[in-house]
Amino acid sequence: MQKREHWGSKMGFILAASGSAVGLGNIWKYPHMAGENGGAAFTIVYLICILVVGLPLVIGEFVIGRKTQLSPVGAFESIAPKSNWKWVGMLGVASAFVILAFYGVVGGWTLRYAFLSLVGGFSELAGNPELAGEQFNTFISNSINPIFWQIIFMGFTMIVIVQGVKGGIEKWTKVMMPAIFIILVLLMIRGLTLPNGTKALEFLFQPKFEDLTASSIVLALGHAFFTLSLGMGTMITYGSYLRNDQNLLSSALWIIFLDTLIAMMAGVAIFATVFAMGADPGAGPGLIFVVLPTIFPNIAGGALWGTLFFFLLFMAALTSAISILEVITAYFIDQKKWSREKATFLFGTVVTIVGIFCSMSMGAFNDFNNIFNISFFDFLDYLSSKYMLPIGGMLTAIFILYKWGISNFIADMVLGMENPKINHTIIRILFAVSASVVGFIILNEVIANLTGTPIIG
Ligand code: TRP
Repeated sequence: MQKREHWGSKMGFILAASGSAVGLGNIWKYPHMAGENGGAAFTIVYLICILVVGLPLVIGEFVIGRKTQLSPVGAFESIAPKSNWKWVGMLGVASAFVILAFYGVVGGWTLRYAFLSLVGGFSELAGNPELAGEQFNTFISNSINPIFWQIIFMGFTMIVIVQGVKGGIEKWTKVMMPAIFIILVLLMIRGLTLPNGTKALEFLFQPKFEDLTASSIVLALGHAFFTLSLGMGTMITYGSYLRNDQNLLSSALWIIFLDTLIAMMAGVAIFATVFAMGADPGAGPGLIFVVLPTIFPNIAGGALWGTLFFFLLFMAALTSAISILEVITAYFIDQKKWSREKATFLFGTVVTIVGIFCSMSMGAFNDFNNIFNISFFDFLDYLSSKYMLPIGGMLTAIFILYKWGISNFIADMVLGMENPKINHTIIRILFAVSASVVGFIILNEVIANLTGTPIIG
């Protein structure tokens, strides 16, 4: 049997895991969610959710992976042999399929917009959100154009994954993460030095609590999950390539810090530009693909800034997409003894094909919309972020609490820590709170679907 690959350095692991966390969630979703939910008030709730619900689960997944040196299915099976817990791992692999299918489509959009900006395609959109919106809709509902870009994006994802853990994931994230950071700093400076740009800081960081509603709290929680790549075994898989000398508490804190920092920086860069140009901060999901292209042409060197911005978005999406494909690939390598090449290309292709249906669901393939009243794209997004990931995360916390046991868990967690002083009761409470909060959110969604009105939100 082949020996398991490991990360080349502690830093490499932290960058790879941050790369998974930092994605479209940080740069596309967070700014528009904050924009629609009162800015700073949303930010504060989001930060609390990240610490209370996110941190225990990030560490939990890392420990399970490192202990077993296996991807999710094998990991649950090895700690709890001959039980049904391996299905939590299976749910993770299934979630990876679902998420990557639509993630790859949006990944393709980022590449297309980077290209469009580079060739000066935004100039006719200056100050004209209607035209920009129309062009965006025409593009995403086209049957060929977005699929072309999606295939290129998925091609990049497969090329990184086929090169393995150290030679692929680690090597590429080590280049892309610093690049993302540098581009964001530049965009932030550019934005804040525009007239009125500093209004963004007030908007994002000075809370107006009257803007905060119950539904924004639910939203912030769900987002904490998505942005930290939790609930589908991504972090179990990345943890399985670790040795026992890594301090998992400090690594997890670093990853959460970087993920949050980059979301905030993206928020500042985007809103500074929006305020400077008098655009609408509450524009919703179209903020990035519709509003920004109308703003860039009005800034000096706008084509370059636009290209940089969408290229940054592309890199962020790519470092996340590889972590999702790795969950699928690692399953077939660990459990089915396939070669990395076969697993990567076969399932990369299958996911791409499912993604093509996602993309077409916004245009030609609308039978699904007619039957179920929601596009296939939105359906996959909804299914994964409202059910599959929260259920996976909740079961992982329950697994640690009741199957593996807190003491066994802590015995593995402290490996790599200098002088561990861990209070078992605190850890138990943290996991119990995580599991209950997530459980409540799932219940809330089920009730909302059954009765039409959620408990809160
Ligand atoms: N965290 C990524 C983002 O914010 C998306 C992502 C990557 C993800 N891997 C995941 C989400 C696993 C859920 C589960 O865009």
